[in-house]
Amino acid sequence: MTESKKRVAILISGRGSNMTALIEAAKAPDYPAEIVGVFANKPDAGGLQTAAGQGIATAWRWHKDYPSRTGFELALSDVLKLWRPDIIALAGFMRILTPEFTEKWRGRMINIHPSLLPLHKGLHTHAQALADGAKEHGCTVHFVTPGMDEGPTILQARVPVLPGDTPETLAERVLVEEHRIYPEALALVARGEASFSG
Ligand code: GAR
Repeated sequence: MTESKKRVAILISGRGSNMTALIEAAKAPDYPAEIVGVFANKPDAGGLQTAAGQGIATAWRWHKDYPSRTGFELALSDVLKLWRPDIIALAGFMRILTPEFTEKWRGRMINIHPSLLPLHKGLHTHAQALADGAKEHGCTVHFVTPGMDEGPTILQARVPVLPGDTPETLAERVLVEEHRIYPEALALVARGEASFSG
């Protein structure tokens, strides 16, 4: 199986709990992907230490050190050249990527977003859902396209919104589902069972 495993780079900005879910899933011998590196856009992203502790290559480039998005992405691309990923998995990576970068990785870059897209794009999705009076909320794994939080859905999971929910309690309920569907979605992409080229 090892030879056919797809190489995956994970991009993070924070604690990296979805990253950890992917790392754990990839430990199964029959999982179709291996994590070859974790990259962050800031030095203090907590997930970097977690990944390093698992013996995974890590790198960071602070986006503030670059005058433009393109400059930052060139630095990111230099790191990716070393890791040679087949797939990029964004896991709480809170930088907008340029159309040039997303087009280059079309069909090979996926993201997890904490809402039932196309509802509640952007930030504070749990507060958005509560403000809307939503009865259901959830998370989406999708292919990345130039539009923010757009792109074809690979998997979605739903949770109920319960009386008395706060953004925090709702986030907790959604996160459990994120950790379940992200490894499943990555496996679908790695096996070629979910694809996007058009
Ligand atoms: C997750 O809830 C993820 O869905 C969200 O950030 C959190 C990162 O947590 N991503 C986005 O909002 C992207 N638009 P994590 O670092 O523990 O995985």
